[in-house]
Amino acid sequence: KNEDRVEALLAKMTLEEKVGQLNQYTGERLATGPVTVNSTKYADIKEGKVGSMLNVRGAKDTRDVQKIAMQSRLKIPLLFSLDVIHGYRVTFPIPLAEASSWDLKAIEQSARVAATEAAASGIHWTFAPMVDISRDPRWGRVMEGAGEDTYLGSLIARARVRGFQGKGLGNLDAVMACAKHFAAYGAAIAGRDYNTVDMSDRLLWEVYLPPFKAAADEGVATFMNSFNDLNGIPATGNRYLQRDILKGKWNYPGFVVSDWGSIREMIPHGFAKDNKEAALLAITAGSDMDMESHSYIENLVQLVKEQKVPLNLVDDAVRRILLKKFELGLFEDPYRFSNEAREKKILNSDENRKAALEVAEKSIVLLKNQNQLLPLSKDLKTIAVIGPLAKSNNDMKGFWSVTWDNDKLVSLYEGLQNKVGKNTQLLYAEGCGISDTSKAGFAAAIEAAKKADIVVMAVGETFDMSGEGKSRTSIGIPGIQEDLIKAVKATGKPVVVLIMAGRPLIFNWTADHADAILYTWWLGSEAGNAMSSVLYGDYNPAGKLPISFPRSVGQIPIYYSAKNTGRPSLNEHDIAYRSTYIDMPNSPRYAFGYGLSYTSFSLSDLVLNKSKIGDGENLTVSCTLKNTGNYAGEEVVQLYIQDIFASVTRPVKELKDFQKVMLKPGESKTLSFIVDKEKLSFYNQQMKWGTEPGAFKIMIGDSSDHIILKGDFELVY
Ligand code: IFM
Repeated sequence: KNEDRVEALLAKMTLEEKVGQLNQYTGERLATGPVTVNSTKYADIKEGKVGSMLNVRGAKDTRDVQKIAMQSRLKIPLLFSLDVIHGYRVTFPIPLAEASSWDLKAIEQSARVAATEAAASGIHWTFAPMVDISRDPRWGRVMEGAGEDTYLGSLIARARVRGFQGKGLGNLDAVMACAKHFAAYGAAIAGRDYNTVDMSDRLLWEVYLPPFKAAADEGVATFMNSFNDLNGIPATGNRYLQRDILKGKWNYPGFVVSDWGSIREMIPHGFAKDNKEAALLAITAGSDMDMESHSYIENLVQLVKEQKVPLNLVDDAVRRILLKKFELGLFEDPYRFSNEAREKKILNSDENRKAALEVAEKSIVLLKNQNQLLPLSKDLKTIAVIGPLAKSNNDMKGFWSVTWDNDKLVSLYEGLQNKVGKNTQLLYAEGCGISDTSKAGFAAAIEAAKKADIVVMAVGETFDMSGEGKSRTSIGIPGIQEDLIKAVKATGKPVVVLIMAGRPLIFNWTADHADAILYTWWLGSEAGNAMSSVLYGDYNPAGKLPISFPRSVGQIPIYYSAKNTGRPSLNEHDIAYRSTYIDMPNSPRYAFGYGLSYTSFSLSDLVLNKSKIGDGENLTVSCTLKNTGNYAGEEVVQLYIQDIFASVTRPVKELKDFQKVMLKPGESKTLSFIVDKEKLSFYNQQMKWGTEPGAFKIMIGDSSDHIILKGDFELVY
């Protein structure tokens, strides 16, 4: 048994070697924090003072570094880790884009391909998925999560863990996943990265923790703690989070890695007076591995000798880490993932690119399609392709991409070239740069637009405008890009706008005046091919927003599952002394769950099998979905529930189920949903999870703000 092997090995280890297993250094590249590592790094590996390296990648490099570990006294293999967030060599859409697919199979498949490629490149462990809920698009890392909703976020967390870990650790195509950042990192005040988080226990348990619990239940191998402080205690030194909840209540068997330098960062937080105290606080709180703080390697041996840290805390952390090394099969063969022939065969294969294309198509959200402008006709003679992102390859990769094959990223322009026939001419004008202030390029753009039958515009953010440390106070389309859209629209030509970004942007003028809008996010290697496939209707878009798009930064945080308040507004004119703004509606520009299709659907025949259910009894809800338009297409039917009165106030609606259904024109299907006790439960006044008897509302729609069917039932006991 691996557990017995761990004990046997532990018995042979010196205190120094044990502490070494808790130490993680970075390799030379991809640093996202201060690199404190010095030239003794390789000497430390040889002395058994390092348990893991991050940012060493590739079959050759990982083999070379592992060879050094094999010269240590006990020959304990290193774990190689990397931020494989949305693809490895083949880049998939950013996670927020993938969440727009509401397609759990596709999301799992994306993680599967990423794991297969990474594992063939010597990687044992990815720092993904990020399962932080975020309701603040100013926060650059919103791109890396699944959006604002805890139910959708939990299902996606599970799908990604399944994808990364495949049939289980030890298989050559599986990597350890890592649920991060524990916890509440996505709620940084004012959307400023690394900032303080202050939230009620209720919000923490109801909204922010469930995706972590879901990942733990799915068997995620590791957790990463977080940079932020939570209610005054940095997450890294937070016992409540790591010992009481994760390792206590949830009985989590994996290990916890700190975030980059987050142990040492407890000093500027004002929580630890020096690096030694930081080490003491972190290990006591349950942080098992130290990423790049040097806190453990420099202080833990001493702290144990001084009896400030009990040896059993160190042993517990070492056990958790060694167990994973055994499960990965590294003691049988420390080089088993570092195989250059396999790496060559698997990376960037046609099959992997095909998977990336499929997920990219599913990630696109059609926000507007006036007069059914889209899909484009194959008979168009001239298309003007305008905008700073039209010919960009590099930006398609999005933040947190580890690809080094920029030439293999397909731009929109290239995608269109691949799609259009000989009869269609493509004209191109950049118009302006992303952050330009000069309108010098507008004239050429207007000229191109005038010559064309239709204009396709590509605007948005460069790949590094959303991501870690990329918070923004102003989240309009950067620079003068919206002015460019206005200038082109003034030609009178029909304008389709493609917005490529890592977060919800605010673009009210474009929303009002463009003829069609596709929100494409950053779609990865196959971006251009996916966009042109949607533009031409070879793929009928079915994406739905996993996060609300505000009208103004002043509305943030904005999310659909809000409370009613004591003074709700009854309609948009009812604002006097109501819980509203006097200068803008409460509603978002685009709501959670919103997204159009080239076809149309109807929802009808709501049936609740009972009007009253008892405790523990299930309710069956059914309805009919019909494709009433002219194209085959998919609809995401969303089921929301409201608990109308309870001992604590409840949101006006909460997503509790959904189904994504493909229908041919004219086809219809009866869908049924089971509402069980779990879906009706919440934390009561005593913070106990369960139901309370009373009236509930069932709402079914195609968006959180477009409820088509409503029903009521009562829970009686
Ligand atoms: O995994 C990341 C984390 O999300 C942010 N800080 C750096 C880590 C390693 O690159």
